[in-house]
Amino acid sequence: MKISLSEGTWDKSTADIVAIAIPSGKTKLSRALGRIEAVTGKGSIKPLASDERFTGKALQTLKVASRGKAKSRWLLLVGIGDVNDAPQIAWRVGHALATAARAQKSAAVELPEVTPESVRAASQGLVGGAYRYTEYKSDKTAGETLASAVILGVPKGVRGLTAAVRAGKAVAESANFARDLVNRPPNDLNPVSLARAASAESKKLGLSCRVWNKARIEKEGMSLLLAVNKGSAIEPRVIHVVYKPARAKKKVVFVGKGLTFDSGGLCIKPAGSMVDMKCDMAGAASTLGIVFAAARLKLPVEVHAVVGSTENMTGAKAYRPGDVYKSLEGKTVEVINTDAEGRLVLADVLTWAVRKLKPDYMIDHATLTGACLVALGPWRAALYTDDDDLASKYLEAGEGEGEAFWRLPLDSDLRSTLKSSIADLKHIGGRYGGSITAALFLKEFVGDTTWMHLDIAGPAFVDRAHGRLPKGGTGFGVATGVRFLEGL
Ligand code: BES
Ligand code: MN
Ligand code: ZN
Repeated sequence: MKISLSEGTWDKSTADIVAIAIPSGKTKLSRALGRIEAVTGKGSIKPLASDERFTGKALQTLKVASRGKAKSRWLLLVGIGDVNDAPQIAWRVGHALATAARAQKSAAVELPEVTPESVRAASQGLVGGAYRYTEYKSDKTAGETLASAVILGVPKGVRGLTAAVRAGKAVAESANFARDLVNRPPNDLNPVSLARAASAESKKLGLSCRVWNKARIEKEGMSLLLAVNKGSAIEPRVIHVVYKPARAKKKVVFVGKGLTFDSGGLCIKPAGSMVDMKCDMAGAASTLGIVFAAARLKLPVEVHAVVGSTENMTGAKAYRPGDVYKSLEGKTVEVINTDAEGRLVLADVLTWAVRKLKPDYMIDHATLTGACLVALGPWRAALYTDDDDLASKYLEAGEGEGEAFWRLPLDSDLRSTLKSSIADLKHIGGRYGGSITAALFLKEFVGDTTWMHLDIAGPAFVDRAHGRLPKGGTGFGVATGVRFLEGL
């Protein structure tokens, strides 16, 4: 999408459609609508708004024809509720505009306040709001989205606004890349094609991308990842993308769970739980999205994305409950339930990353447990770390980006539930605290690295749009990860 900046005001804009933020609350609403009627004529908006029950509440929109009174043919009134935060408002208006404007060739948006942060947020909202997943639609008009937008009311000489547009676009495009990967069906997106997609995007951005095949993974000794792969007819992959700017002071390694399909393995899932399990590589998608965004933004931080990818299937060679495997770290692990595969894949990748990359921070994204949805609902991710400073920085970053996290404890009391009678560890705990015991299992493989685990099983993929999450793959975690990196 082409986004440009203009000094003009909404009533003079010649774009096909112009979006205007409208607050809720009787007097504020009336004043905002009055301001528009001053251009479009008394009685041209308020009666319609009242008929349509348009109250300015968050995310509500009303599209009205300007009937020649304003230069633009359509006005899009966007409810912003009672938020006062300028970037939040800008995001909402940009997002609503791109969602509503499909056939229109040009669109414009008026922001209540023009700062680099709000211009960035509007751009992010525009590019994210224009996202549609249409790769498999025969009707190609289904993919039509807004091609260009203008941000209005930008006085000449405010510095940093062009860079702000670029930043907003970079974040949203990277999240959209992640969404595409998550939405792509599992017959086409498998570990091999995921690695190809990562390589192709890395090449575009001038990044190094190393891909390991099965033989190489065997040589490295990642037996837990290989155990999960045994039931699949498709080879596993480990994908490592590096963004390394000159003079970086910090090194952050993101690790992603890349299960391109999770049938549950021999402990097979019921059909209803299996149907969306193409989303089980969403952690990998977000991890890749973050490193690509960091490169687009030229952040002064070294960023790595390391992804462990396989299917979890039921083939004749499938791993079994009762099997014991020796992890790369050295601990032996007794398999109890083959559907708890993600932690096995991550364990070996985390060990490798700790040993070979020696990160300042290591952060994994994983659609790890259904228990996380039970605990926090479908729209919020669990955040685990022993580092209070890292937790608070990340929670703050999430807040600003409209992505919901909640810190849960790495409760050492539950560690005993991972004891095995025949091996060093079993990979699941008891009936309760399932998201926590999964995190505790991972902790066994990170040594003393400053590490954080994000269980994104809920918000990575949703069955209807909610807040900043579009239906289907959401790219959850990309925006927050980038914001965190910028704060380092
Ligand atoms: N990929 C699932 C977790 C999941 C559930 C992701 C719902 C997205 C939506 C994971 O591999 C899994 O199956 N976990 C099991 C663990 C259990 C067997 C200990 C679960 O949560 O049921
Ligand atoms: Mn599973
Ligand atoms: Zn899984």
